[in-house]
Amino acid sequence: MILSIESSCDDSSIAVTEIESRRLLLHKKISQEKEHSLYGGVVPELASRLHAVALPKLLEEAKPYFSSLKAVAVTNRPGLGVTLMEGIAMAKTVAVLLEIPIIDVHHLKGHVYSLFIEKPSHFPLLILLVSGGHTMVLRANSFEQMEILATSIDDSVGESFDKTAKMMGLGYPGGPVIEALAKEGDPERFALPVPLRNDKRIAFSLSGLKNAVRLTVESLGGADAMSHKDKCDLAASFQATVIKHLLQKTKKIFKTDTTKDFAIVGGASANLAIREAFGELCADFGKTMLLAPLEYCSDNAAMIGRYGIDAYLRNQFADIDTLDAVVTRKLQSGTLLE
Ligand code: KG4
Ligand code: ZN
Repeated sequence: MILSIESSCDDSSIAVTEIESRRLLLHKKISQEKEHSLYGGVVPELASRLHAVALPKLLEEAKPYFSSLKAVAVTNRPGLGVTLMEGIAMAKTVAVLLEIPIIDVHHLKGHVYSLFIEKPSHFPLLILLVSGGHTMVLRANSFEQMEILATSIDDSVGESFDKTAKMMGLGYPGGPVIEALAKEGDPERFALPVPLRNDKRIAFSLSGLKNAVRLTVESLGGADAMSHKDKCDLAASFQATVIKHLLQKTKKIFKTDTTKDFAIVGGASANLAIREAFGELCADFGKTMLLAPLEYCSDNAAMIGRYGIDAYLRNQFADIDTLDAVVTRKLQSGTLLE
């Protein structure tokens, strides 16, 4: 079995996965949403302190499996330095104590592996990754080779949902609350600009849209003066604009990339309107759409453990003495996730 640990942002999570069957034997997660909600976003130092309390509690539940563990997999990049360190420190302790190897996991590769929980992995795949930290299209050719085809030049999709919610006084995380309000709203009411609409680049941008939302909130007299209907309509207009933008740019990639299987992963892939819109795009292009179960879209240790199995089977272990948190990585299009 593999023990896996995730602490790259505001979710403390631990899982135990059986290597041969890929069966998830234990999966626990403590989210810090309530604590960060007061601030409208994640406060790294607070997150780190909360991990220091939550992770040992979760590890306690994994103790019955200790004698069967063959390795410990931990997210070490990219993420918030102070929160990654909490998971890494615990992984090192377990590895030394049980004399087992340690596997370093790239968080975004973990999200890709959320597609393969309790299933065999398969490649190639074209992937839209939409999370709180990142927005990109990847071509995952194999376990080793995941190439960035397009990325955001500024904010991420998840972040734009969070900021939009914050501007309307709706708390954190913004994704689920905006999605819920959008269901009741009129997406045509506010004409928001579709980012990079006339730009040839295959890239994403969300900061201009965020600004347009801010101006709209101001024109309505601020969050407190907005009616429930105003909020629903703005949420619907915002979400529809994000979807148009994602579709426009991904469609350009679909025109030249014949990879049959397309997947959406990351926290914002839980959004049903995004799922539906891409389902239609895939049908138009004869592609098959793959999605992770809703519970594995946001950060979790199950996906880290699933990646850990494939790394373990390839004998890809980290050096315990040099393993460290890597905060910034080159995440430009044309480069590999590494
Ligand atoms: O993947 P994730 O858990 O963390 C990162 O790796 O960043 O993604 C969290 C992000 C948050 O910004 C959250 O607002 C967004 O995913 N999110 C959503 C939805 N559920 C979560 N965005 C849009 N619609 C949703 N239903
Ligand atoms: Zn994530």
